[in-house]
Amino acid sequence: MTTMSSAPSPSAVTDVDAGHASRLLEHCRAQVRPALAEAVGRLHPWVGEMAAYSFGWCEAGGAPVSGPAGGKGLRQALAVLGTEAAGAPADAGVTAAVAVELVHTFSLLHDDIMDGDATRRGRATVWKAYGTGPAVLAGDALFALAVETLATAPGADVPSAVRHLSTALGDLVRGQADDLLFETRPWTGPAAVRPDEYRAMAEHKTGALLGCAAALGAVLAGAPRETVATLDRAGRHLGVAFQVVDDLLGIWGNPAVTGKPVHADLLRGKKTYPVLAALGTPAARPLARLLNSAEVLDGTAARRAATLIEDAGGRAAALAEAHRHIAAVDACLEILPSAPRSADDLRALLAFLVRREL
Ligand code: IPE
Ligand code: IPE
Ligand code: MG
Ligand code: MG
Repeated sequence: MTTMSSAPSPSAVTDVDAGHASRLLEHCRAQVRPALAEAVGRLHPWVGEMAAYSFGWCEAGGAPVSGPAGGKGLRQALAVLGTEAAGAPADAGVTAAVAVELVHTFSLLHDDIMDGDATRRGRATVWKAYGTGPAVLAGDALFALAVETLATAPGADVPSAVRHLSTALGDLVRGQADDLLFETRPWTGPAAVRPDEYRAMAEHKTGALLGCAAALGAVLAGAPRETVATLDRAGRHLGVAFQVVDDLLGIWGNPAVTGKPVHADLLRGKKTYPVLAALGTPAARPLARLLNSAEVLDGTAARRAATLIEDAGGRAAALAEAHRHIAAVDACLEILPSAPRSADDLRALLAFLVRREL
């Protein structure tokens, strides 16, 4: 399994045009959509409807969508661009993109149940719209469909690709387990979650699938081992940066833009990076008092906590952490034997990820 090394210092990657990233995401979504729709079309119709609802292709109940909906499509874009960067054929990239987008959607359906979240992508979560049992089932179906997609890929190194995806899934489960267990750990004292434990959790729950997305097309096409390892490592660092930014958005983001709730992580006692970073500073005494004073925070206490986290430097420290991991991704791109355009495309995506909605 590929693992991350420690992250080097920030780079100029964040200066890249963010409009470029939106066009790339749109372009990759359009390239992958027919194969994704064909795969989803093979599901049981009810389960397929829940999947289509989650992808933003229909309303709950199956009616046509009234406006734009769905996710950003980051993992499918990473699969397409990672495959291109490895010099592998585009159809391997599309197959990889379908598989990782299905796994991602499966993980979100189940994650929203675990986290008790009622909104995602600007709409009711699948468990809220259809019920918990059906949402579990739809997640299972998407997982199975992802494996089937890879297992039936034409003329490719299927066993290696299935192995790569399984490793990522094992890591994702490990990361989700730690994320849930961390909720029950104290904020301060010897049993508090340390930043290195957070990093391992974030690499597992989010980085593993991003690493898999970046490398899977190359694996399918039989690309050299070093290229695969570099793409995987880049995706894992990207995943930690992405998760830290997701944590920031969960405290200071605008739900109208993120499509997700704000302060839900604080209310559940999630050990997110900005809070852990803030608690590591001497200025964090009032924050520690507030967090330790109640078993469960209410809305007013969560707003107060957000201010105290920012005052103690947690917001700035989280952004700096994201930039360190983005610099590590940039270093991976430097050593990839890819055409300059695909590396530039990947850099544009990185810029978007650290700047999004902040
Ligand atoms: C959400 O991922 C889950 C995390 C790993 C933070 P995204 O923010 O990529 O979700 P969508 O697909 O765009 O909705
Ligand atoms: C992201 O979990 C990782 C997975 C879904 C496996 P989070 O719980 O941090 O992500 P959001 O904020 O709900 O999208
Ligand atoms: Mg969640
Ligand atoms: Mg979660």
